Amino acid sequence: MSSESLHPTSAPSRRTVVAAVGAAGLALTLNACGSDDDGSAAASGTALAKTSDIPEGGGKIFKDAGVVVTQPAAGEFKAFSSKCTHQGCAVTGISDGVITCPCHKSEFSVSDGSVQKGPATQPLPEQKITVSGDSIALA
Ligand code: FES
Repeated sequence: MSSESLHPTSAPSRRTVVAAVGAAGLALTLNACGSDDDGSAAASGTALAKTSDIPEGGGKIFKDAGVVVTQPAAGEFKAFSSKCTHQGCAVTGISDGVITCPCHKSEFSVSDGSVQKGPATQPLPEQKITVSGDSIALA
């Protein structure tokens, strides 16, 4: 006589954790050829930033140079004076596509510096920049 016992298979619930690996940690290695001026002043031709420093749809303020560099669309870079056209405060924030002035809350477009919200009435003046490779410099 044989008794067959059932072996309930206890299947431990196994969770598969899928780790998404982003490319965020990619570091670019730069080959700097040519002369490197080490001045910190915002002189013409001075490298300001790497293109990767500028968030798409946003921008970055370079206080010492007095400029805001923006990337309204992928690969398109613009620069504006960081001095508010209302009463001359330095703009301090960039979010939701606008550059904001802390003094009276004027807002300027990251695309063309135009006034999105007063009291300022004049756009932020555009500054010339040159982009070569992944380096952005004041023109
Ligand atoms: S100085 Fe910028 S809003 Fe007044």
